[in-house]
Amino acid sequence: MIGFLGAGRVGAQAALEVASAGIDDVTLVDILPGLAEGEAMDISQKIAETGVDVEVNGSTDFSALRGSDVVVITAGLARKPGMTRMDLLEKNAGIVAAVAKEVAKHAPMAVALTVTNPMDVMNYVVFRKTLFPKGRVVGMGGILDLSRFKSTISAMLDVSHSSVTSLVIGEHGENMLPLPRHTSIGGVPLTKLMDETQIAQANETTRRVAIDVISKKGATVDAPANGVVRMVKAIAWDRKEVIPASAFLEGEYGVEGICIGVPLVLGAKGVERILPLDLDDKEMAQFLRGAKTIREGIASISSLL
Ligand code: NAI
Repeated sequence: MIGFLGAGRVGAQAALEVASAGIDDVTLVDILPGLAEGEAMDISQKIAETGVDVEVNGSTDFSALRGSDVVVITAGLARKPGMTRMDLLEKNAGIVAAVAKEVAKHAPMAVALTVTNPMDVMNYVVFRKTLFPKGRVVGMGGILDLSRFKSTISAMLDVSHSSVTSLVIGEHGENMLPLPRHTSIGGVPLTKLMDETQIAQANETTRRVAIDVISKKGATVDAPANGVVRMVKAIAWDRKEVIPASAFLEGEYGVEGICIGVPLVLGAKGVERILPLDLDDKEMAQFLRGAKTIREGIASISSLL
């Protein structure tokens, strides 16, 4: 069973896609009375017509998460136009600290998949509050940044999305690190097809695009939900998929004691391996800037930990 803690925009959309694809049974939990139940009814009625036989339930009671193999955490506040992810820090840390304890209580064997922003800091809060082994705590951010980088590059070069293979690591925030040196267009290095100015423009667009969407439609929903579903599928089906995602590091990439985005192997056990990568000096400096921001975020909420 896949649990969704938070049945707002991203949680409900991801739950809809997980159920529609028949990945597993779904349970939504939200503190807002009626919301999770209503979403569950709506999704159930959809899949009844399309002929998918999974069970979908909704509740305000955290104990409904019992038996979850994955719990997707989207509970909390979302960004409004003009806000950075870090602006949500204090409020969401309180919410996530509380719900993480409920996950540990009711779904002690689950993989916790953190989505709430600022995601890397919240992922650390989940790690600390669930007391789960580090492999069973992972955060969604890199895959979303990657989908935005791919979308930007394919538009700039006028090539199909599927021709672009790439990687975005680091903080899921202002210091995200798109990796043009590790990007190829059907095997042709991106650096052969774009000059430095164009690459800088692609990086900047990728960084900015989420706030553009928020200012236009109020929230980012479809692309984040897709990232969640990709990760849920990798865990539920033990796909051992290589995905950039937030994990607790103990020295990898020169970083210790925080969660940040790195390429990792995602399977039934959660984070099964963190893959190494050679970063040049400029890339490393950007990665470490992100790590510093996350560390400062964690320090500012230390009273909650
Ligand atoms: P939303 O406001 O639509 O949904 C959040 C839900 O959490 C609400 O239904 C609310 O009732 C619920 N909630 C609040 N406190 C709760 C609690 N203690 N227990 C259970 N449920 C609780 O927000 P949306 O748009 O779904 O975004 C959710 C979070 O995900 C935000 O923090 C947002 O910034 C983040 N996000 C992260 C992304 C990423 O790449 N990691 C991408 C998009 C959004």
